[in-house]
Amino acid sequence: MLNAKPNAVLGLSTGATSLGLYRELIRMHQDDGLDFSQVTTFNLDEYVGLTRHNPQSFCYFMQENFLRHINIPPQNVYIPAGTTDNYVPFCQWYDRRIAECGGIDVQILGIGEDGRIGFNEPGSSLGSRTRVKTLSQQTVAANARYFDTVAEVPVSAITMGVGTILEARKIVLLANGKQKAAAIAAAVEGPITAMCAASALQLHRETVCVLDRDAASCLKMLDYFEWCQAKMLDPP
Ligand code: F6R
Repeated sequence: MLNAKPNAVLGLSTGATSLGLYRELIRMHQDDGLDFSQVTTFNLDEYVGLTRHNPQSFCYFMQENFLRHINIPPQNVYIPAGTTDNYVPFCQWYDRRIAECGGIDVQILGIGEDGRIGFNEPGSSLGSRTRVKTLSQQTVAANARYFDTVAEVPVSAITMGVGTILEARKIVLLANGKQKAAAIAAAVEGPITAMCAASALQLHRETVCVLDRDAASCLKMLDYFEWCQAKMLDPP
């Protein structure tokens, strides 16, 4: 993709699932000269209240695990500001800035066990825009592993909306492990519902799901998807 469009706009996610992708992109940069000098990135989300230097912030995660290892100009990196004075205009500006940069070419997503993409918790409007979202008790509990105590976990975050995400030209949804299997089945084969934000991806015309066997294990159509994949790899 970057070879065809060196000034691509990438939408990025944080979390354990994305680490393998970032490792591989860093390797391609270091070994094969993959060039990020014209790339622009927009991150999906950030905790409200954490500064960019806080080791639990998504900004810190991105710097440590990806950005400082590649040659992307710092002015091309957009990550929602966890400590802005005025959240509503900031969120509106973030969506405007994505549009001004030409829109997102490829959006990388992980998925929460509740089917969230970004921090779009169950019940999020499928037309939602970038905004501040209160996290569910389940998300706070799941994220507590990254903090010393559960009391330190922020209870709100800025997140791109489901509507914002759906405007990306291509979407790549990554998932690994049994704990994601039910969410993947709901997203891919369930009804389109605000109770599973990822199910909105069924409306998108170019979404690819990259799953390991465990994450795919609850799909009713797994045999068919494997058959399709085999036929694609071995065309007539
Ligand atoms: C992070 C994000 C979240 C994660 C999801 C999965 O930017 O938007 O929706 O993608 O919580 O996280 P991991 O990969 O840690 O299981």
